[in-house]
Amino acid sequence: MSLSLNTVARDGEIFIKTYGPKTPLWRYYIRCVLDLIGVKQPVEYYNKYKRLKFEYQTLGLWNSYGLNVPNIISKKDTALHLSVIKGQTLSCIFAESIDFDLVVKIFSDLNYRHTLAFKHNEPRLCHIDANLRNIMYCNHKIFHIDFEMGREYEPVNLWAQREVSKLLVSLLKTFSSKERKKVLSIFCEEYQFKNIINSLVTSKLGNSKKVKKNKHSNEYVLYDLALDLQNHMSSTNEN
Ligand SMILES: Nc1ncnc2c1ncn2[C@@H]1O[C@H](COP(=O)(O)OP(=O)(O)O)[C@@H](O)[C@H]1O
Ligand SMILES: [Mg+2]
Repeated sequence: MSLSLNTVARDGEIFIKTYGPKTPLWRYYIRCVLDLIGVKQPVEYYNKYKRLKFEYQTLGLWNSYGLNVPNIISKKDTALHLSVIKGQTLSCIFAESIDFDLVVKIFSDLNYRHTLAFKHNEPRLCHIDANLRNIMYCNHKIFHIDFEMGREYEPVNLWAQREVSKLLVSLLKTFSSKERKKVLSIFCEEYQFKNIINSLVTSKLGNSKKVKKNKHSNEYVLYDLALDLQNHMSSTNEN
């Protein structure tokens, strides 16, 4: 697993995020050199200055669309000073219990942002690293943090697909199969971009249902998500 050697610290009303390399270091440095000589790299492999700049610009962009992100207080060489979101991460909230009203809000926020992203051809309105530790809930509103992922050379539909898969896997892996069904049906009601769901399913399963899960563990992975989405959509089409 790849880890960011970033640090985060709260200093009163300021949240300080500093940017460091990623592990494994050898891969990070090779990617940085490739980027330097013009071979396009994912954002997560940009050097720390370029990653900071990407996150800074994305926060500014989201702010300009009225989307909920931390405010930028100041920008240093290798650190951003941000306002503190006084809430909890979704990861903490769902570790306690499932709040289905909150699930509706999450998908409605996703649908709204993707509508803007397609309308303005602005892929950076998709939150690629949408795991539950990077989404917060504060004053009944969803906030997004941590914008250090993406592929700037990909079109909006691929960014949208990446966000949907990351968010759904992160959300569903903590739930029982009955709860998963309910969450997926809320998702299919709220999220209108059926072409994104279809291409996610096809990219993972192809046209055959016989593809085997390439894993021995019981962890919920992208393959399980694609299968669940396919089953859900064929059962709703039959009704
Ligand atoms: N502005 C903020 N306000 C409150 N908590 C924050 C803020 N930014 C980050 N956090 C907390 O710090 C954690 C790590 O920050 P994040 O930006 O996701 O950095 P990393 O790249 O290390 O994952 C988040 O999961 C969240 O709990
Ligand atoms: Mg994070």
